[in-house]
Amino acid sequence: MLRVVIEFPLPKTTSRQREMAVPYAIRPAEAPDVPQLAEIEKEAFPTTWPSTPFKREVSNSRASYLVAWELPPGGHSTSSASGEPGHSANGSGLPGLRGVWRRLVSLFQREAPSSLPTNFIAGYVSTMFMTDEAHITGIAVRESRRGSGLGELLLLASIEMAMKRQSRVVTLEVRVSNQVAQSLYTKYGFKQVGLRKRYYADDHEDGYIMTTDPISSPAYRESFQRLLEAYKARWGEVALVLG
Ligand SMILES: CC(C)(COP(=O)(O)OP(=O)(O)OC[C@H]1O[C@@H](n2cnc3c(N)ncnc32)[C@H](O)[C@@H]1OP(=O)(O)O)[C@@H](O)C(=O)NCCC(=O)NCCS
Repeated sequence: MLRVVIEFPLPKTTSRQREMAVPYAIRPAEAPDVPQLAEIEKEAFPTTWPSTPFKREVSNSRASYLVAWELPPGGHSTSSASGEPGHSANGSGLPGLRGVWRRLVSLFQREAPSSLPTNFIAGYVSTMFMTDEAHITGIAVRESRRGSGLGELLLLASIEMAMKRQSRVVTLEVRVSNQVAQSLYTKYGFKQVGLRKRYYADDHEDGYIMTTDPISSPAYRESFQRLLEAYKARWGEVALVLG
């Protein structure tokens, strides 16, 4: 199981960013999260019908639902003076945290996520795993939390998960009008490889098919690594932990 932890508060570097004084973790979605997932979907995709059967989907073994979760009190530490040395549990080479890493990882390791209180979920990403392809079926951040790096964190967690599951490429569809999402995907090496005419059922908008280069290729891994480092430098410490 992939676990990604990010430490806030965030440095303010662009006008889009919001200051957040709470720590977030990326963790797999669980049944108690379902009402919030439905709420986020409704806000982000108000015309989607029928709505996603999240209750069934979170236990689908071919799918991964990851949530950006506000950690409960006690899951937050700003110390980095001691603790684990730089650590990469997933082969990505991402340096881990020291004090923060130790604190948050031990929080996860000692207590299963299900035993921790479910607090505020700020966003989610859903990924379906096919034969050799990881297909991102949904990514959304609550409007109140957008522009804070969470969409990027969810995307990189999904790609990291795809690497872990040895998918060849990551693919998705995106509305031709959704330039914010396209900009995020392009940043992570997704390219337009096709067009699905009238793909969206509500208004028949076309959708671009976007896909990465093979994610196990040295070139993609190097660029992914650079993006991870840049993310960490911009938003704060990040640890990736495999359970
Ligand atoms: C798309 C979405 C998930 C991005 O989440 P977010 O948390 O706001 O994005 P982040 O703060 O992590 O920004 C990551 C990247 O997204 C792009 N982006 C985010 N906000 C943007 C904006 N207002 N204008 C242009 N690009 C933007 C940029 O590429 C940005 O990278 P940069 O900061 O290096 O420029 C979010 O806007 C959302 O939930 N939208 C509604 C649902 C949706 O459209 N999902 C995609 C379906 S395919």
